[in-house]
Amino acid sequence: MKKLCLLGLLVSLASHPVLAETAPVPLENKEAFISDLLKRMTLEEKIGQLRLISIGPEMPRELIRKEIAAGNIGGTFNSITRPENRPMQDAAMRSRLKIPMFFAYDVIHGHRTIFPISLALASSWDMDAIGRSGRIAAKEASADSLDITFAPMVDISRDPRWGRTSEGFGEDTYLVSRIAKVMVKAYQGQSPALPDSIMASVKHFALYGAVEGGRDYNIVDMSPVKMYQDYLPPYRAAIDAGAGGVMVALNSINGVPATSNTWLMNDLLRKEWGFKGLAVSDHGAIIELIRHGVAKDGREAAKLAIKAGIDMSMNDSLYGKELPGLLKSGEIEQKDIDNAVREVLAAKYDMGLFKDPYVRIGKAEDDPADTNAESRLHRSDARDIARRSLVLLKNQNDTLPLQKTAKIALVGPLAKAPIDMMGSWAAAGVPAQSVTLYDGMRNVLGDKAQLVYARGSNITADKKVVDYLNFLNFDAPEVVDDPRTAQQMIDEAVNAARQSDVIVAAVGESRGMSHESSSRTDLHIPASQRDLIKALKATGKPLVLVLMNGRPLSLLEENQQADAILETWFSGTEGGNAIADVLFGDYNPSGKLPITFPRSVGQIPTYYNHLTIGRPFTPGKPGNYTSQYFDDTTGPLFPFGYGLSYTSFSLSDMALSSTTLNKSGKLDASVTVKNTGKRDGETVVQLYIQDVAGSMIRPIKELKNFQKVMLKAGEEKAIHFTITEDDLKFYNAQLKYAAEPGDFNVQIGLDSQDVKQQSFELL
Ligand code: BGC
Repeated sequence: MKKLCLLGLLVSLASHPVLAETAPVPLENKEAFISDLLKRMTLEEKIGQLRLISIGPEMPRELIRKEIAAGNIGGTFNSITRPENRPMQDAAMRSRLKIPMFFAYDVIHGHRTIFPISLALASSWDMDAIGRSGRIAAKEASADSLDITFAPMVDISRDPRWGRTSEGFGEDTYLVSRIAKVMVKAYQGQSPALPDSIMASVKHFALYGAVEGGRDYNIVDMSPVKMYQDYLPPYRAAIDAGAGGVMVALNSINGVPATSNTWLMNDLLRKEWGFKGLAVSDHGAIIELIRHGVAKDGREAAKLAIKAGIDMSMNDSLYGKELPGLLKSGEIEQKDIDNAVREVLAAKYDMGLFKDPYVRIGKAEDDPADTNAESRLHRSDARDIARRSLVLLKNQNDTLPLQKTAKIALVGPLAKAPIDMMGSWAAAGVPAQSVTLYDGMRNVLGDKAQLVYARGSNITADKKVVDYLNFLNFDAPEVVDDPRTAQQMIDEAVNAARQSDVIVAAVGESRGMSHESSSRTDLHIPASQRDLIKALKATGKPLVLVLMNGRPLSLLEENQQADAILETWFSGTEGGNAIADVLFGDYNPSGKLPITFPRSVGQIPTYYNHLTIGRPFTPGKPGNYTSQYFDDTTGPLFPFGYGLSYTSFSLSDMALSSTTLNKSGKLDASVTVKNTGKRDGETVVQLYIQDVAGSMIRPIKELKNFQKVMLKAGEEKAIHFTITEDDLKFYNAQLKYAAEPGDFNVQIGLDSQDVKQQSFELL
C-alpha cells in the first residue's frame, strides 16, 4: 500500500516538470500564492487536501502522522488538544510542500465552558449575551489549537419531534438570522486569522430542520418560495457575516441530496450568494449518495459530490479512491479538483495557517498542564448567560421566587444530573465541572438549608429507550437507572414533599433525547416522571416544575398541575447556579420562547407565522367549517415570544408616525412600556408586521425587530422601531424580493399573540 503511494507520487512528479522548480510566490498576495501552490501540487497532494478525518481514541497516531507527512490528509476533527495536534502539524511541516493541517471540532454552545444549548441561547433574545458565549467559545477552542468549528447551526426548526431542534435557534427566520450573524462574528472575531479566533462553518446547508415528520435524516420537500422566504435566510446571514465555511446537509431537497445538489452549492451558494469559502460534506455523506439512490456505486458518488461542489469530504474515503480514475477517464475535469483544493487552501490561508501553522498550537512549554483546569473556565459569564436564557412559563400566586428560609423538597431525575445539564453536543465540557440544580440550590442556601432531596423516578421506565440512549456509551452509560421500584422512589419523594413547604421537581428529558438521531413521536414528559408529578400534586403542596429538555414538550396536564413552571432547557456548566438564581429571586427571569409550544404532538406544525388561510378558526365564533382540530382547543399552549417575569409590564397603545410610507421613507412605530410591578426587570418588546393583501398569500404576522429593555420598578420607557420598505419585502412567485404597495398591519407586543396594532399603507 505504502509502496503504491510512493510510486504514484514519483509518477506524478515526473509528469509535472514544473514542480518545485521556481521560487514560491510570497505570502502577501493570497490569490497568486494559492495559484502558485496549486501548480506545485501533485494530484495525490491535491486529493489529500480534500480529506477531512475524524480522530478517534483508537486510531493509530503514528500511521496518521505518516499519512499527513505524505500529503494525504488536509484536516482533522475531534482531536482537541495542543499536545495531540502539534505532532500532526509537525508531520505536515515535514511534507513536501509543508501545507499546514487545520483542526476542527463541533464547538456548538461552548468549548470547555458549556453555555446553554442553542435553543436556550435564543430564548435570551439577548444578542450581547449570545455573542459573548460565542467569543468565549472561540477563545477556549483556539487556546486548545482548534482552527474551525462546525457552527453555527442555523436550521430553522418548526417540528419539535426533530431531536436537533435543541441544536438550533428555533422557528423564526428573523431571530435565527440575527443570531447567525452574531455567532459568526463572535467565532471569527476581527478576522479568522487571529490566534484567538476560529473560522465559522455554518450548517446544515440546507433545510435540514424541515425533515419530513421531524424524523432525522428524512427527506425535505419544499416549495422554492418557502425556502427563500423562511428557511434559507439564516444561512445567507451567516455567509454575509463572513462565515468561512459551510457544512452541507445530510438530507435531500426536492428529490436531490444536498451533497450532490448542483443547484444548492453552485447556483445558489456560490453564484447567487457569492460564497467563496469551503464546502464540507457532513459525516459520511458522500457514500450515502448510494443509499439515497442517486449513485450506483462509490465512483458515481464521488463524481456527483465533486461536480456539485463538495470541497472536503468528511470521513469517507471515496475522493481518495475514485477521483484519480474519474479524472483519467475524463468523467471529471482537472478544474473540478483544482477548484475544491483552491477553496481548502484559501480557507487555511484565511485561518492564518500559512503565515504560522502553529498560530493556535503555540509552543509546547506554554501548553496547559491540565486542559480541564478550573482556571480555564469562564464560570461567571456562563452563569450570567444561562440565567438570561431561562423562561418562566407559569407563576400562579407568585409561587416563585422561593423564600430562602422555606423548607424545600427537591425531587426528580434531573435534579442531580451533571451530564444532562450540559445538553447534547457539549464539546469538551466535563460533566464533573457542571453545577447541578441540587448543587446550585445548596450554594444559595448553605449547608444548614432545609433542602430535602429525593430522586422520585427514573428518566423513563422504558428499558428500550434507555438502551437506545446509552447506545455507544457502554463504558459510562449516560442514563443510569435507580434500581428501586417506581413506587419506592415515588413514596420517598412524596414523603419529602409532605415535610416541606414547597416542591421543586426537576423533570423533562435526558440530554440524549434531544440530539442527533433522537426524534420522538410523543412530546410528553416520560410516563415515569408524569406519575411522579401526579403523586406530588396530590400532596397539595405548591409545586414548581423546573423543566430540562431540548425541544418544546406537550405540557397540557403539567400546566394544570404545577403552580409554577420554569423552562431551563439544558443550561450548561453553570446551569444549577443560574437556575437557583432565578428560583430564589436573585435574578428576575427575562427569557422568551424562540419556538412555539404545542398543546399536543397532533397540532404540529404550530409555528406562529403561518400563511393566512381562507377559513381561519376565529376564537369565540362557531368552529364548523373553519381550520381547526375539533377535539382540542385551537392554538398553542405557549406562543412564540412568550415568557413571564417576577414583575409585570404594561404597553401603551402604539403610535405610528404616519399612516403612509413612501418607498424610500421611514416610519416610526412606538409604544411606552412600563414596569408596573415591584421588582426591576427586563422584557423583550417585539415588532411584527403583516402584509394584508399581496400577489401571494402572506403570513399572519412576521417578526421584524425586537428590543430587550431593562426597567426599574415603576419605570417607563418609550420604545421606537423604524420601519422601512426593506422590512416589507418578500419573495414572490418569481422569487423576486420586493415590497408591494398596499396595506400593512404593525403589531407590537411582549409575545407574538398579545399585541397592540396599527395600520399603514405603503405607497
Ligand atoms: C453531524 C454534524 C457534525 C458532524 C461532525 C454529524 O453527524 O450531522 O452536525 O458536525 O457529525 O461531528
